[in-house]
Amino acid sequence: MKEFSPKLQAKIDTAKEKMKPIKLGQIPFASPLLLAPMASICNWPFRLLMEDLGAGGTVSELISCHGINYNNQKTLDMLKIDSRERNIGIQLFGEDPTAMAQSVKIAESFGPKFLDINMGCPVKKVVSKGGGSALLKEPKALAKLLSSMKKEMSVPLTIKIRMGWDADQINADEIVHVAREEGVEFVAIHGRTRAQQYTGEANWNYIEELAQHSPLPIIGNGDLHRSHQVRERMQETHCQGLMIARGALRNPFIFLESMDESLSFDGRDYWEVIERLYDYILEAFTLERTRLVQLRKLIVWFSAGFPQVAKFRGICFQTQDIEECMRVSEDYFKTLTHQNKRINYAESFMTSGHG
Ligand SMILES: Cc1cc2nc3c(=O)[nH]c(=O)nc-3n(C[C@H](O)[C@H](O)[C@H](O)COP(=O)(O)O)c2cc1C
Repeated sequence: MKEFSPKLQAKIDTAKEKMKPIKLGQIPFASPLLLAPMASICNWPFRLLMEDLGAGGTVSELISCHGINYNNQKTLDMLKIDSRERNIGIQLFGEDPTAMAQSVKIAESFGPKFLDINMGCPVKKVVSKGGGSALLKEPKALAKLLSSMKKEMSVPLTIKIRMGWDADQINADEIVHVAREEGVEFVAIHGRTRAQQYTGEANWNYIEELAQHSPLPIIGNGDLHRSHQVRERMQETHCQGLMIARGALRNPFIFLESMDESLSFDGRDYWEVIERLYDYILEAFTLERTRLVQLRKLIVWFSAGFPQVAKFRGICFQTQDIEECMRVSEDYFKTLTHQNKRINYAESFMTSGHG
């Protein structure tokens, strides 16, 4: 793995000195700012990269308990954790208490610090079977699912939820109490209902109200796209932690910038991050096609807001192998300065996901 240049490493170290280690329930994290789970994105290379760049902890993408129990190779590959990762949780999804409990031991054998349950996924294929955000609708059934899992677990359990199923069924407070009864450590909440999917704005009034009265630590999540929003929220929030998802895709330095507002990162810094990611991706994946797809999509997101980005993305998407992709990216990023990055935050970005 290539070291960062002294210039970039010094900036990282300056921000990391400001990280305040915290325990959320009994789970230790390097800071209260966590990377949220994202399907097809939060594999170990991206998670480790984000820890390198100041995330206090991370969560895997959602992983099917049935896939685990059927020994599905693709699913087992998703469970992989790298030994350099420090504060990592594996997120499981499913609806059946027996199947979820059965998957626990296998998931734990990969070495996560905690297991999380996806209770926010709005996707039809998941909720129609009773998983994801459908778990919010039946608090009694949820209690059974949590207790079945807890019986099998050696590591702590957490959940990630939405506010409720829809505007008429907002019940996160009830879910938090059920979770507390069943020994859950913390609750991360995306401040939207299932019905909202990704429309409108995350309801931080609701999140704050919940956090103020919750018997469990609350991790707030939703629409923290920019470092100044994260900083402001950190200062005023009743939440014990915050989770960032999409913000880290367009700005991989969001955790560092949130801890130290004096820092700025230019195209050369982005290029170094891409080189680090490239090394991790080569280690993690053997198939050339997978390597290219994994690297290219992140490079394309990282380029958001830089000049002539549409032209660069066109060129990048035509690359046939990872080396060519790196060549065109180096040519592009090395000419850029931070001041050139102007993301249009009014435009919607990634409005579908699994939580
Ligand atoms: C592409 C994508 C994939 C996601 N996958 C998951 C997932 O696997 N599990 C989960 O709990 N949430 C998932 N989410 C939801 C995020 O963790 C987060 O709750 C949501 O994006 C709101 O946070 P943000 O505004 O910081 O992006 C996903 C979101 C996106 C955009």
